[in-house]
Amino acid sequence: MNIGVLGTGVVGRSLATRLVELGHTVALGTRDGTNPVAHQWLALVGTARGARVGTFAEAAAHGAMVVNATSGASSIAALRLAGERHLYGKVLVDVANPIVSEPGLGTVLSVVNDDSLGEQIQRSFPGVKVVKTLNTVNVDVMIHPGRLAEETTMFVAGDDAEAKATVADLLRSFGWRSILDLGGIAASRGLEMYLPLWLALATATGTATFNLRLVRSQI
Ligand SMILES: NC(=O)c1ccc[n+]([C@@H]2O[C@H](COP(=O)([O-])OP(=O)(O)OC[C@H]3O[C@@H](n4cnc5c(N)ncnc54)[C@H](OP(=O)(O)O)[C@@H]3O)[C@@H](O)[C@H]2O)c1
Repeated sequence: MNIGVLGTGVVGRSLATRLVELGHTVALGTRDGTNPVAHQWLALVGTARGARVGTFAEAAAHGAMVVNATSGASSIAALRLAGERHLYGKVLVDVANPIVSEPGLGTVLSVVNDDSLGEQIQRSFPGVKVVKTLNTVNVDVMIHPGRLAEETTMFVAGDDAEAKATVADLLRSFGWRSILDLGGIAASRGLEMYLPLWLALATATGTATFNLRLVRSQI
């Protein structure tokens, strides 16, 4: 599949690499198509499988599916640069967390309780099928869940059932086996507000490569 990955941070580059490994034709998007980090990524993966680097707009236009792996505080701006017409009708996999650093407060969420970044994106781009997922785990777990000692749970949330099924297929190709549909895009609130607990767990365990598993009653 042609996939546009918006974001040249460690998440965007790692997801893009994994997608290339899985046989997808990936365009990695950045504000400035000459971004050296993006071109280092391209040199690493090679162009044999059609991988390329471009602006956010070029990457979004390329993708039948688009991944938002931009800084949460800038995601709406990045998606505006990508352009509504290049996103329209497509599945947008949103892995971003709306994290900001506040003096005296440290890492906090810029949107909480009765709204979320996932919903803000869906409201800003109503013609796009936003699916929130993968934001609850570290990037290494995102792309290689099988490297954890046990099977763990990944969540999806979004208003379009078909889009969630498409994203679940993609997650299964990464190695995810236990995928829980949390309902509409409003469930992004809980997925994003998990971040403070994730940070506490990372501090308490001394590792970022962990995840939770949902265990239900047998009755
Ligand atoms: N690190 C993890 O393990 C992890 C886990 C779960 C979720 N996440 C989430 O994944 C996302 C990506 O994280 P990351 O650490 O890889 O990268 P990041 O540093 O949060 O974001 C980098 C990307 O954001 C773009 N960007 C920055 N400021 C911008 C602006 N003003 N306007 C438009 N675009 C802007 C950059 O564009 P350029 O390419 O032009 O520089 C770059 O592509 C974040 O939302 C993060 O919260 C991360």
